[in-house]
Amino acid sequence: MVVIRPGPVTVGGVALDNHLLLAAGVLGTTGASLARMLQLGAGGVVTKSIGPEPKDGHHGPCVAVLDDGLLNAMGLPNPSKDFIEELEPVAKKPVIASIFGGTPAEFARVARWFLDRVSGFELNLSCPHAEGYGAAIGTDPARVEACTRAVSTLGMPTWVKLTPNVTDITAIGKAAERGGASAIVAINTVKAMRISTGLQRPVLGNRYGGLSGSMIFPVAVRCVYELYEACKIPIIGCGGIATADNVVEMMMAGASAVEIGSAVRDDITIFETIKKDLYAKKGIPPEEIIGCAHA
Ligand code: SIN
Repeated sequence: MVVIRPGPVTVGGVALDNHLLLAAGVLGTTGASLARMLQLGAGGVVTKSIGPEPKDGHHGPCVAVLDDGLLNAMGLPNPSKDFIEELEPVAKKPVIASIFGGTPAEFARVARWFLDRVSGFELNLSCPHAEGYGAAIGTDPARVEACTRAVSTLGMPTWVKLTPNVTDITAIGKAAERGGASAIVAINTVKAMRISTGLQRPVLGNRYGGLSGSMIFPVAVRCVYELYEACKIPIIGCGGIATADNVVEMMMAGASAVEIGSAVRDDITIFETIKKDLYAKKGIPPEEIIGCAHA
């Protein structure tokens, strides 16, 4: 297997301890859990998405565990501005605040609460099951550009997390780039559903949800590969990454770093496990493999 040289890395304006970040939505709701994931080897952590008003989320069931994946429709539950106090235990650490809003002004309002308390922002323009938020606006290039600009002009690193549920993800990536994004995160979950044959009803309370885990890894690789050909800003690969070889594959497709979510549910020590397999002092400089699969 290809191994790469270890060391801190700066991606999209954010200094990380290594190439592996905790993805939004998994163990990101408290300062204690974010701190724990950094102690357990994550090079940076992304918070649960925070929005302009407190939100309870969808009614349950909100999560279904599938073979090789998870189906969720949490509905963006969050305490809004009160989340600030959770950032205390991780002050000055590589923490990215995942934020959402329904308009550019809402994105900017939420971002201002966290200015100088985090290392950067990740705009959730991609949740596939939240009315008026996420992919509801993140499938429109003009709105992606405007929301990105509203945050990037505040002067902090601004990452934009994209939905794969579009015909052409590069049109959305280019819109984020025009809006001043410092990096693109690809991908959020794939819109999906399951039906309980016993109950003759959808499994999730919201009916539709987002699919994550190993089964979406090939979709994520394809999206990163396409974005690398279309955009100049760095890409952070996300979607079903569970092994060091998955990280290398994502880098070969064009990712400068990766986010890991569903696999953390299966193995809380996954960051250390991947680091052991991925890094060696005499490994290849990471820059040599990023995008190397492109002719
Ligand atoms: C949720 O809270 O519903 C999940 C967030 C997301 O898919 O972006």
